[in-house]
Parts: sequence; C-alpha cells; structure tokens
Amino acid sequence: MSADLVVLRTDAVTVKYGALAALADVSLGVATGSITGITGPNGAGKSTLLNVFAGLTHISAGEVWLEDEDVTSASPAERVHRGLMRSFQTVRLLEDESVLTNVLVGLDRLPYPGLLAQLAGTRSMRRAERAPNETATEVLQLLGLNQQRHRPVSELPFASRRLVEIGRVLVSRPSVMLLDEPAAGLDEGARRDLEEVLLAIHASYACTVVLVEHDVGLVRRLCSEAFALDAGRLIAAGPPGDVLSQESVRLAYFGSASHD
Ligand SMILES: Nc1ncnc2c1ncn2[C@@H]1O[C@H](COP(=O)(O)OP(=O)(O)O)[C@@H](O)[C@H]1O
Ligand SMILES: [Mg+2]
Repeated sequence: MSADLVVLRTDAVTVKYGALAALADVSLGVATGSITGITGPNGAGKSTLLNVFAGLTHISAGEVWLEDEDVTSASPAERVHRGLMRSFQTVRLLEDESVLTNVLVGLDRLPYPGLLAQLAGTRSMRRAERAPNETATEVLQLLGLNQQRHRPVSELPFASRRLVEIGRVLVSRPSVMLLDEPAAGLDEGARRDLEEVLLAIHASYACTVVLVEHDVGLVRRLCSEAFALDAGRLIAAGPPGDVLSQESVRLAYFGSASHD
C-alpha cells in the first residue's frame, strides 16, 4: 500500500500496562476512504489500538501517523482537530437531554472560533460555517432519528442510543471515524440496521471508518480490509475473507482451527 493511500498508521507500537503488553510491536495502515475492521477476541488489544490512534493512551514504543504527519506526541484535541474522532465501547450520553442536544455535544469538540479564523478555507472552517442545527438535522436524518430529536435519550431503546453516540461523532464531519464495537449488545435486526447506517455514512460523508468489531460476520460484510489482533499482536491483515479464514485467527477466536 503506498503511503499516500494510508490515512492512519501505527509503526511498531507497543503499549504496556505494567508487565502486560496490551499491544506489542503493532504496525498497520488504514487505507484512505476504507471501512477497515479491527477484530480479535476479548482482550486482544482492539480498544487499546483505538486509544493509540486517538491519543488517549501512552505508548511505550513506536509511532502513530495521521496522513503525512507524525502525531505520536499530538494531544487528543489536536487529533480531533485534524478530523479524527472516536466512539466508545460503552454508550456515554447525557441521559436527561434530548437526542438533538446529545448530537450537538459532538460539535463542542471542535476548536474554538478564534482558532478557526486562522484556518480560513480549511475543512474546519467550512464545518464552522454551517449552522449547528442544520448539520445536526442532516446527521439525524441519516441515522433515522430526526422524528425523535426532542425526546430525552433516556427514553430511547438501546439500539437508538448507539446511533445517537455515532451521530455525536458524525456531526463534526470527521475524516476518520473510530468506532468501538458499535454493534455490541444489539440483536440481529438492529445489527442489520446499523450496517445499513454505517454504509450510508461511509457513502455520504466519504470518511474512513475504522471499525472495531468482535462479530466476524459484520466485518466480512462491511469491511474492505481487516486486521486481526490476538494478545496484543497483529496476527493477520488483508481482505476480511482471507483474514478470518486464517488458521491463526480461527485458533484465537475459537481455540480450534477446524471450528466453522
Ligand atoms: N487501563 C488499563 N490498565 C491495565 N490494563 C489494561 C488497561 N486497558 C486495557 N488493559 C488490558 O490490555 C489488554 C487489551 O485490552 P483491550 O484493548 O481493552 O482489548 P479488547 O478491546 O480487544 O477487548 C487486556 O488484557 C486488558 O485487560
Ligand atoms: Mg474493547
């Protein structure tokens, strides 16, 4: 993969928590405009990898690159400013506030207008020119949540709450969205709906999506490329079908290479 087609990259990244290496010498690149899956069993290091991208964890060794810049020592805010946004594995919402307010919170993560003034013509400047409500409405429509915009999120079913969380990320028009197990806890129907929404987001917002996902079916259906982690190590990379059929990946998941 040539460097200009990679939006996000780790180079020999190691993250240690005491004696445990949550990530060990992980080098991988996310293709610009792709939906890339990060998969592997619980404890493999998937969430840690998203934290590394987002600048939310200290790395013991290695480098992180966003587009053509070394962001290894860039703060989370600086990375957000460069269009990198993440969601969390557990939904974190303002329970008593409306769907609209919860989505608008995502705009607060953007830099302040003073900073934007220095960035005339950049992506951030263009984002700031849009009225917040207009931007949020567009996002809510895409997510199928516009009818519920004034309802407190506490009244929403779990699947819709997950979508609100995604809306919060989307409203700032990220160039790269990092989603941590967005389908966790959803039943089959809601999972399929979420897949549709993710495809629609990818198509309409032309953003790169990095999807941490334990569900191999979802990775197979949505992703153009996948990386499999196990015990902090990168054990496979490539098209999802190839990655998921590798013996090492099947062993990591099922403890048996012959398990279907
Ligand atoms: N803040 C932390 N402190 C100590 N250990 C952690 C911390 N975060 C993650 N770990 C450990 O690092 C490993 C990888 O965790 P994680 O990235 O959350 O895995 P995954 O998301 O693939 O389930 C696990 O063994 C986990 O217990
Ligand atoms: Mg995780």
